[in-house]
Amino acid sequence: MDQRLRKSLSKVAEFYDRRKVGDAGPLGFRRSTDLKTLFACTDRLIHEKIIDPGETAFLDLGCADGRVNLFFSYLVKLSVGIELDEWTLDEYGPLRTELEGALKNEGFLSPPENIFLFLGDSTDESLHDAIMRKTDIGLDAFDLFYTYLVMHEEFAEMLAEKAKPGSIFMIYGLQKILPRYPGFRLLQHLSPMEGILALYQKV
Ligand SMILES: C[S@@+](CC[C@H](N)C(=O)[O-])C[C@H]1O[C@@H](n2cnc3c(N)ncnc32)[C@H](O)[C@@H]1O
Repeated sequence: MDQRLRKSLSKVAEFYDRRKVGDAGPLGFRRSTDLKTLFACTDRLIHEKIIDPGETAFLDLGCADGRVNLFFSYLVKLSVGIELDEWTLDEYGPLRTELEGALKNEGFLSPPENIFLFLGDSTDESLHDAIMRKTDIGLDAFDLFYTYLVMHEEFAEMLAEKAKPGSIFMIYGLQKILPRYPGFRLLQHLSPMEGILALYQKV
């Protein structure tokens, strides 16, 4: 990763981490990923070919304000998110505008135009069709799935049926005891990365 990209990603992480949701107060159900932690995982994710820069198709199941999408957009070909709550998804645009201003002022890289966020239930097949129509990528063509502990068992069941063999399901928010999901192999040598990110490969 070149220095400008590294510094830009660090700036993105810092921007969103100052605006975390749900760590305190009533919005715990939509807690935000700590992007500095994801940043700390990034070199290893690339080294282990979990992310193939410019090639990977990424999908966040329960993307909230799209912060993980924005972070990974620099590294992947396509960054797609699905969010159930409209008011949560609505925060994406204003935050992105504010971030872009800060990035530009300080000479950092702007995020690429490869982010597509959808309102709805991640398990809804008609939404998967809508994603396919918009991006030309169906659930069976994504390389990397992500969730922050939301409905991880239901999502694993869905992906066991629909995702392609070899694709990766990353679950943020796990600790030492790592669940197993039928149809997936825990990548034990990598998990939990930074003590919090577990990786599973579709068999
Ligand atoms: C813990 S937050 C994580 C947000 C973001 N992915 C992150 O890591 O910062 C989980 C989000 O998933 C959403 N959600 C819950 N169930 C969902 C579903 N079935 N489909 C889409 N979004 C869902 C919630 O509304 C919430 O905004």
